[in-house]
Amino acid sequence: MKAVKVGLLGLGTVGGGTVNLLARNRDEITRRAGRAIDVVHAATRHLDRPRTCSTAGIRLTTDLFEVVDNPEIEIIVELIGGESLAKELTLRAIDNGKHVVTANKALIALHGNEIFRRARDKGASIGFEAAVAGGIPIIKAVREALVGNRIEWLAGIINGTANFILSEMFYESREFGEVLAEAQRLGYAEADPTFDVEGIDAAHKLTILASIAFGIPLQFDKVHIEGITHINREDVAYAEEFGFRIKHLGICRRDERGISLRVHPTLLPARQLLSSVDGVMNAVMVKSDALGPTLYYGAGAGAEPTASAVVADLVDVVREFTLEPENRVPFLAFQSDALSHEPL
Ligand code: HSE
Repeated sequence: MKAVKVGLLGLGTVGGGTVNLLARNRDEITRRAGRAIDVVHAATRHLDRPRTCSTAGIRLTTDLFEVVDNPEIEIIVELIGGESLAKELTLRAIDNGKHVVTANKALIALHGNEIFRRARDKGASIGFEAAVAGGIPIIKAVREALVGNRIEWLAGIINGTANFILSEMFYESREFGEVLAEAQRLGYAEADPTFDVEGIDAAHKLTILASIAFGIPLQFDKVHIEGITHINREDVAYAEEFGFRIKHLGICRRDERGISLRVHPTLLPARQLLSSVDGVMNAVMVKSDALGPTLYYGAGAGAEPTASAVVADLVDVVREFTLEPENRVPFLAFQSDALSHEPL
């Protein structure tokens, strides 16, 4: 069967990670998806910049619309971030009959209601697992695994940069600004890092999680938002003296008055599970009626962790929207019928 042709908008940290992951695990991904997935066209701001991935076989352009209008492409992966242009490109891709996978939480949190409506009208799929908590499959967990549960609350560390800064202040007594600069160098931070440290990025993600967990429209303007910019090393040290850690949390909760969404620094007892989530790691705890509490933990930012979620969405789209039922891969798709080891 012919490979699915994918167009990338943005070839930075996550774009490079996605190209690398698709190339490295090509055989496994093809077997699991039912078709090979090839990035054939990519838009990038600078054509001659050194890259973290090979661009062999990829047509490069600086024109984002050239990719979105390419009739060969079935799936657009939107990784440019930001709002207005990303929205215009996404709607145009949908109108052009393409599916869209995005890591853009601002796009989904602020314009998701309109995008999902348009996608439904046009029969397009929108994958956004990579938009929340990097590589952790939290969207799938809440939407699929917990589908039979009533969710009571959800609380998590959902910004890797903020958690990295707080962790380095705690363990290494480093200065806020110095650690933020390192997070930027490592590709964790947003293009505008005030989104990370002022809680806006976490609020975008919480808006999306709350919508799925509670079946409510995306309502970013209802989130109470506080960042970590007023926290200093002394605060972190005092908290430790009293047996607490300062963690930046996103929390949504259902009670008799309705559903509340808030993002702010929180004093957590040191023995609490979320207290030991350090560095760029994210973790989301979900309390649901049948299953009780569950915890989802993993890398919340970075090239390949985020690419892992992008590729998962690509495979979902290929399986569900591009294959005839008879060509779908069965649940148990064996790679080989031979064991490589003698049984113990
Ligand atoms: N800037 C984000 C973070 C990237 O630090 O969590 C992943 O969404």
